[in-house]
Amino acid sequence: MDLCSACTMPTHASKSNTSNTLLIILLPTKVIIWFKARKTPAHISNLPNRYEEKLGRTLPYHGPSAVTLGMNLSPSSLPIPNSFILKLLHRLLFYRTRPNKSSLFLTLRKRKFKIFMHTNSCSIQEISIFAPQTAFYFENRSPIEYSCPSMKTPKLHVKCFGCQMNKLDSSLVVTALRKKGFELCEKASQADVILINTCSVRKHAEDRVTSNLGHMKHLKKTRPKIVVAVVGCMAQRVGEDLLEHDAVNIVAGPSHIPQVPEMIMNALPKDVADAATGSKAISVTEKIRQKTDSQVSQELDDFELTYDSDENHIKHQAFVRAMRGCNNFCTYCIVPYVRGPETSRPPQAIIEQIKKLAQNGIQQITLLGQTIDAYHYEAGDKTYRLADLLEMVADIESIKWIHFITSHPGKFDTAIFQAMANNRKVTPYLHIPAQSGSDRILRAMNRGYTAQQYLDLISEARQIVPDVAIASDFIVGFPGETDEDYQATKNLITDAHFKNSFIFKYSPRPGTHATKRLEDNVPAEVKKQRNIELLELQNSIAEEDNKRFKGRTLEVLVEGLSPRPHLNNADTQTLADGSAATDESWQHPQLIARTAHDYIVVFNGPESLAGNFAKVEITDTAALTLFGRLKQS
Ligand code: 5AD
Ligand code: SF4
Repeated sequence: MDLCSACTMPTHASKSNTSNTLLIILLPTKVIIWFKARKTPAHISNLPNRYEEKLGRTLPYHGPSAVTLGMNLSPSSLPIPNSFILKLLHRLLFYRTRPNKSSLFLTLRKRKFKIFMHTNSCSIQEISIFAPQTAFYFENRSPIEYSCPSMKTPKLHVKCFGCQMNKLDSSLVVTALRKKGFELCEKASQADVILINTCSVRKHAEDRVTSNLGHMKHLKKTRPKIVVAVVGCMAQRVGEDLLEHDAVNIVAGPSHIPQVPEMIMNALPKDVADAATGSKAISVTEKIRQKTDSQVSQELDDFELTYDSDENHIKHQAFVRAMRGCNNFCTYCIVPYVRGPETSRPPQAIIEQIKKLAQNGIQQITLLGQTIDAYHYEAGDKTYRLADLLEMVADIESIKWIHFITSHPGKFDTAIFQAMANNRKVTPYLHIPAQSGSDRILRAMNRGYTAQQYLDLISEARQIVPDVAIASDFIVGFPGETDEDYQATKNLITDAHFKNSFIFKYSPRPGTHATKRLEDNVPAEVKKQRNIELLELQNSIAEEDNKRFKGRTLEVLVEGLSPRPHLNNADTQTLADGSAATDESWQHPQLIARTAHDYIVVFNGPESLAGNFAKVEITDTAALTLFGRLKQS
């Protein structure tokens, strides 16, 4: 039995020879239930292993603080049936731990046992069992607890750069590590493990990682035991060279996320001497454009299903990956070279995952894919496309809103508009990057559509879904972009009336077609100027368009406290008709919420609204934000 040497069974747990003892030992890698009776049934002490064998994997539970509970049961309660122990074990193993104290009930011979679990954010720390007639059942009224003193809760600090895909990957790794006993910490200097999830889309994102690694190297001078894991797109792109950095212990690409928790556990140094040898490990894909092997896809799917969590920073909302990789090879883009070929996940796996999230209170799902509108999965003679998937998700009762990002204009299947129009759960919001308004530049970018085709597509969207909100991305200063090309982009922005646009300065990425074949010949100053101007243009259009919301009441999903309350109460106390608000809502803090169309709404309300739907009357508007007053929750 691999018990920690510091753990001994509490002496009073086996005080009486005549009674039976139920001993539960939670270890980092095992749960041992030991049932000591006159005849100890060996098959019970073996249960956790049998569970693992049956499931074909190691069970993801519990932290490094070993807790044992023993209690003596009086002879009158004998014998405890196996089914009770099995049920208890099952509940403990699969119990979704939440911070603080939670309880569950089990019944034994028509008597309810209340089981309290004192948990930290990741693991069950302590268990107490109470029965209605405690004295009757237990010789010891109070539960016997024992914490292993030789282990402390390891701390994890996470830095995540880049897109929603990365945020999802980070949260999967965090959940997996929490189940291994880690706790999140705010500061890198307090951490035992630092996880950096990286982005390669622009050089600036990689520069920030490099500068962070400089800081980690400095930290390691005083705390050599820290393990630094660099994962994600830059890890895949830079590979071995990144591993050579003094600060780095682990490098893993996006397809190797399932291995990261184990790599981290293996890298944890046992002592300072161990840390000095600097354990290093790498897991990246050698031939990234090779078709993804089905075993790798299965591993990624399993990891996603096991560790997807409802404990997101925004209550009741979750991201779910529908696709991985990209096959478009837009000439400026690194994604196909770091995230590999486009693959769609089986709809059943996606639905199973969403059902699990829904059971845990998730109400809004965002389906993720680099080109989500190209979702395509063949099963027998049936081909599932995004519109089918949206319908399937909408059939899950407790899911109320379904977003999907990001769409590619060249791939768009207009059945998606129909799904939006026919099903209120599919939110009327499209993020469909145009990238440029110049046909010449769009060709050089290998985007596969003209500016007019793009405008036709969004006009069709507006015909079928009248109030659809459309957001876009643009790159300024792409090689060869002239004033004329730039003017064409301005014209497109003026014609399209986007809800918002993300504007980026072109950044040459190693290995892409544009970097190899085209000269980065637009001066930095010009890129900067165009970036500022386009943002101003976009904002002035949105500011004007948003005025239509004033006086309207919108349904919103509340995210929580506004991270940067940017209004003072005086500004918000005026209603749409100019009168002063007299109700109590202004005594509440400022909350941030979103409409189904993804508009940001801020208003004052009770913090308890986080994660719930509410109705807000819009009293004022700006380019990126609507301001309002809570009507009813
Ligand atoms: N330089 C600048 N912006 C880029 N994007 C992608 N690659 C580059 C690059 N090399 C932008 C695109 C894309 C968004 C995620 O990032 O606009 O839609
Ligand atoms: Fe990059 Fe183009 Fe694929 Fe988007 S569609 S991830 S811009 S290659």
